[in-house]
Formats: sequence, C-alpha cells, structure tokens
Amino acid sequence: MRAVDVIMKKRGGGELSRDELAFMVQGYVSGSIPEYQISAWLMAVFFKGMSARETAELTELMLRSGKVMDLSGIEGPFVDKHSTGGVGDKVSLILAPLAAACGVRVPMMSGRALGHTGGTLDKLESIPGYRTGLKEAEFREFIAADGFAMTGQTAEIVPADKKLYALRDVTGTVESIPLITASILSKKVAEGAEALVFDVKSGPGAFMKTLEDAEALARSLVNTGTAMGKRIIGVITDMSEPLGRMVGNFFEIEETLDCLEGRGPQDLMEVTMRLTAWMLVAGGKAKGIDEALGMCERCLASGRPLELFMANVRRQGGDAERMLALRGKYRSQHSFELRAPRSGYIHSIDAYKIGLAGVYLGVGRDTAADPVYPDVGFIFDKKAGDRVAAGDRIAMVYGKDVTSLEAAQPLVEAALSLGSEPPTRQSLILKEITAL
Ligand code: URA
Repeated sequence: MRAVDVIMKKRGGGELSRDELAFMVQGYVSGSIPEYQISAWLMAVFFKGMSARETAELTELMLRSGKVMDLSGIEGPFVDKHSTGGVGDKVSLILAPLAAACGVRVPMMSGRALGHTGGTLDKLESIPGYRTGLKEAEFREFIAADGFAMTGQTAEIVPADKKLYALRDVTGTVESIPLITASILSKKVAEGAEALVFDVKSGPGAFMKTLEDAEALARSLVNTGTAMGKRIIGVITDMSEPLGRMVGNFFEIEETLDCLEGRGPQDLMEVTMRLTAWMLVAGGKAKGIDEALGMCERCLASGRPLELFMANVRRQGGDAERMLALRGKYRSQHSFELRAPRSGYIHSIDAYKIGLAGVYLGVGRDTAADPVYPDVGFIFDKKAGDRVAAGDRIAMVYGKDVTSLEAAQPLVEAALSLGSEPPTRQSLILKEITAL
C-alpha cells in the first residue's frame, strides 16, 4: 500500500477501508509515513469528511495505539463526563464526587488550560500539594476508595492522538468532526469508562460556536461511541457566559466547595446536576432523568459529595487544611474593578473575551509550556440578567502583574453588554441526544 494512494482516494471523496486507515495511523506512529503525507491526508479528511464506519474504525485504531486502563477487580459501573471546554467550567470537580456519592465510579482523566478555555488539572494543582500525575496503581486504588480519582493522561494512553493532534494544530485541521470524535472518544474509552456523558458546549466561549456544529459533534460522539459498545449521552450546553461566579484556578476550587456545600450559583448547578443525572442514567443507577435528578439533589444535601471531595484532596497529596485556610484570601495583589459604565440590565458577559483576558491575567495559557497562576482570575458580583446602577461593581479582576491587567482590561470591558430591558432567560441545557 502507498500513502499517496490513500491520500488521493480521500481527496476524491472515497471511503477508506479499515486496512487503509490502519496503514496511515500505524505508519505515522511508527515513523514510516512522513508528516507531510499525514498532513495532506488530514486535510483531505477535513474537506471530504468520513463515514460513520470510517470514524468508528479510526477511533478504534487510535485507541489500540496505546494502553487501555485496566479497572478489573473494582466494582463499576465506570462512567465519566467529558466537556469540550469552556470558561469557568468547573463542573468536573463537583460532578465527580457527586456521581461517586450516588454510586457510580468515575475514572477521570482531564486536561490543562489551553487558549481561552480552562483546564481541570491546573485548577486541581492550585491546591497546595495536589498531585495530578497518578500512577495506574494509584488511580485504581483511589477510585476503589473514594469512587473517583482525577489524573492527567499518561504517555501510554492513545499515543496516536498525541502525534496527530499536534500535527492538526499546526496544519489547520483541528475543526473536523470525525477527527475530533476519534481524538476525544479514543482517549475517554482508554481510561476505562463503560458509559460516557459528553458536554458539548455551544456559543461564543465554546469550540463549537453554533448550535448546529455542536449538535453535529454531539451526534457523531453518540453514534460512534454507541457503535463501539458504550452507552453514550450527548448534552449540548450554552457557553455564552462564564459558568458560575468565579473564573480562575484556585477561585474555581473555592466555587467547587461552595457548590458541594449547597451554595452554588444557579447556572453552574443547573449544568452540573443535569450532567451528573445523565451519568446515573448511563450507569444504570436510575431509570430516567427525573429520578436521577432527585437522587442528585438528595445526595448533595446529605453532605457525602463534599466528604468525598475532601478525601480525594488528601489522598492525592493535597493539603486540605491549607486549601480551606486560603479560601477567600488567595488573591493576587494586582487587581482592578470592573464597574458598570451606566445603568441597565446586564445582557451578556462574553465568555470568549473573558477567557482570552484570562490568558493575559495568568489563568490560562497560549502555549503548552506557559505557566499558569493560582491566585488570578475573575470574581463576578453580577451576571447576565442582573440590574446595575452606573458605577456598581460587576467583577473583581486579578492578574499576575500590572502589565497583565493593562492587557486584559480592554477585553474585559468589551465583554460586557448592557441593555435597558431585562434579557430573556434561557435554560443552559440546549439539547440532549441519547441514541441513534
Ligand atoms: N479536544 C481533543 O481532545 N481533541 C480534539 O480533536 C479537539 C478537542
């Protein structure tokens, strides 16, 4: 077989066989096919797409390029949630102990902040001492003990994706539904999950800006995962405004504690409860979404999810006492206040602009090598729907230094949109996709 023939077949809109897909993936991982040919192939896939069969086979081949986490010996069901990334999205931190307290096991492998979106690992590492590089044996042990564990991806998990994603990043081929599906799904299946809930974000702060694109990705994830024998649910949620009142690494740990104590903001809790409830349905713990939501409410009120979160912090090396002592105080000395320029109702606070400003402040990063900071970000006093008088404080903004504040300020001001009438309130749950 020759790579050029596979490239030309896809370029002409042809459907590749499993052998042809295996030839390309294995050839790239082993180094026998050069990057320029894989780049051309990725571009052909970007323009011509893939059939459902090709997408499922590519996912399977990528999965097989590495190791699948062995969770045998631990009682399941193993259910995870994956979000396509947002701003202020700390749902995983609340949902994992909540789902675990409701009886499912959550083998959670998360990522880092990149571009305008935040990363669960960076948030967890803002807890002094917390370790996110667990060995496989620890990951298993901690899941067995607390019902969940949080770690980063090891080098053995889907090595094909590491190489392909890096190449897609520099060849303009990231935004392809079959390539995104194979990339996300192969990694999630490799962590040992039997059932998965995908939170596909839609809106200015999301990877998928329109509901149409978000739905196409959600359907592709649901269909491909189902074809691989997994129980998959796709939930499309709105990412127009940052989720919750806090954006920032340690700030989001603080808001997680608020939520686990039953004092979480309405928008964040709406999304968290819904996604957790779908995990219970996918894991067979509840027959339907209403029963599952009731279970989540009762479980949160019992205080057990908070206990599990604290147990996990200690088990993963975090200094829980220091975390509690820092609550409300871990703030950079460099800050400014965002104040309302006039009276009116807040119509929106643009999540994308806030996320980009967060990169300047030190919440997120431009390149994988950039450092992030624990004590910077945003604390919102007001959000969309709130009425403000001229001069009211809308947010406190903290940055790593004065220059970062100067760079962020115009973006933060531009993120705010005011109107004279109250905006219409909409649910953040835009669509749910449960089967073929
Ligand atoms: N996130 C991933 O892990 N892979 C993609 O292809 C896109 C986003």
